[in-house]
Amino acid sequence: MITPAARTLIFLLLLSSFSLLFYHNWFDQTLFEHPKMPPAPQRNISILLWRWPFGRSYSLDGDKCLQMYNISHCFLTDNISTFSTADVVVFHHQELSRGGVLPLHLHRPVLQRWVWMSLEPPINNGDLQQLNGLFNWTMSYRRDADIPIPYGKTILGAGDQIYQTPSNRSCLVSWVVSKYLPTQTRSGVYQSLRKYIPIQVFGRWNNKPLPDKKLLSTISNCHFYLSFENSEAKDYISEKLWRNAFQAGVIPVVLGPSRDTYETLTPPHSFIHVSDFRRMADLAAYLKHVASDRRVYEEYFRWHRTHRIKTYTDWRERLCQICVKYPSLPTRKVYQDLEGWVRN
Ligand SMILES: *[C@@H]1O[C@H](CO)[C@@H](O)[C@H](O)[C@H]1NC(C)=O
Ligand SMILES: *[C@@H]1O[C@H](CO)[C@@H](O)[C@H](O)[C@H]1NC(C)=O
Ligand SMILES: *[C@@H]1O[C@H](CO)[C@@H](O)[C@H](O)[C@H]1NC(C)=O
Ligand SMILES: *[C@@H]1O[C@H](CO)[C@@H](O)[C@H](O)[C@H]1NC(C)=O
Repeated sequence: MITPAARTLIFLLLLSSFSLLFYHNWFDQTLFEHPKMPPAPQRNISILLWRWPFGRSYSLDGDKCLQMYNISHCFLTDNISTFSTADVVVFHHQELSRGGVLPLHLHRPVLQRWVWMSLEPPINNGDLQQLNGLFNWTMSYRRDADIPIPYGKTILGAGDQIYQTPSNRSCLVSWVVSKYLPTQTRSGVYQSLRKYIPIQVFGRWNNKPLPDKKLLSTISNCHFYLSFENSEAKDYISEKLWRNAFQAGVIPVVLGPSRDTYETLTPPHSFIHVSDFRRMADLAAYLKHVASDRRVYEEYFRWHRTHRIKTYTDWRERLCQICVKYPSLPTRKVYQDLEGWVRN
C-alpha cells in the first residue's frame, strides 16, 4: 500500500531529478558546447613582433592600435617573454635570413599563428627553402597575401584639398635611385631614355645624395618622376610610386608589374607605363608633348576630384591590420612551400 504521503514524496523526488536533468542539459549546452568566448572581433588579440624590421623600433606603449588607428581589441608587443600567450607571432623576413632567430626551441602553443612578413620583391628575399612548413599566414604587398600590406592604396572620394599643379616646373624628369645596378631592367630603360631627354638623377651612387626631407620638394620641381621598381614582380608597387610621385604631385612614369595591375591599384589615368612604348624615343617624345600642353598634362591629375591615395609607412599600422583581417583569416593553414608561394 502506498500512502498519500509516500506518493507525494515520490512525486517530489521525480520532479527534482527531472529538473536537475534539465538544468544539467542547459548548463552543458551553454557552457561547454558553446565555449564561453565572446564573438571573434570582440576578443582581444595579442600580436608579438619577434624582431623589429631593420632594427628600428617604435613605441608600443598603451593601446596603439586604438589610439593611432581606431582598431580595438588589438594589442601589439615586442616583449618576446610573452611568446607562450601570443595569439600571433610576426617574423619580418630580413631578420630571419640572418639565421638562428626563429624560436624553434620553444614550445609553440597549438593555436598560435606564425606570420611571415616581407615588403620586398622575391629577388630580395633570397632562399626560403628552410622556412617551409613553419608559417600559417603571409603578410606582404601582394593582394593574395593573407594580410595584404600594400605601400599605398587608392580610395574613392576626393581629398580635402583641391589639387593644383604648379605652373612653374623647371625640369622635365627626375629619378632618385639609391642602388644603381647596370643589370637591372630599369637601368637599361634609363640609359636609353636619357639619349633623348634630360633626366635629373639623384642618389649616392651618382654623388648626388638627396636627404629625405628634401625628397618631395625636389621631385615636385619636375613634370615627371621615374617610378621604376628594382624588379618587375607581381603586385610589387613600392613607395617610388605612392610617395615619391603621387605625394610630390607629379606624373609617374612606371616600370614594374603589368599595366593591368597599375590600372587596378592606382587612380584612373594617373600614370604613364613604360611598356606602352615600343621605343624609348617614342616615350621621350610623348613626355615632351604632355609637358608642353597644359590641358593634356592636367588630365593626369583629374583623378584628384574623385579619388585620393593613402600611403602606409608605419609598421604599427601594418601590424594592426592583422586584427582587421583576423575574423576572416583561414583557421587552419600551413605554408608547406613558402618559397613556391613567394616565387609564384
Ligand atoms: C572608430 O571606430 C568605431 C567603430 O569601429 C566607429 O564607430 C567610430 O566612428 C570610429 N571613430 C573614428 C574617429 O574614426
Ligand atoms: C615581458 O613579459 C613578461 C611576461 O609576461 C613580463 O614578466 C615582463 O615584465 C615583461 N617585460 C617588460 C619589459 O614589459
Ligand atoms: C614655383 O612656385 C612656388 C610657389 O610660388 C614656389 O614655392 C616654388 O619654389 C617655385 N618653383 C620653382 C622651380 O621655381
Ligand atoms: C600553424 O603552423 C604550424 C607549423 O606548420 C602547424 O603545426 C599548426 O597546426 C598550424 N596552425 C594552424 C591553426 O593552422
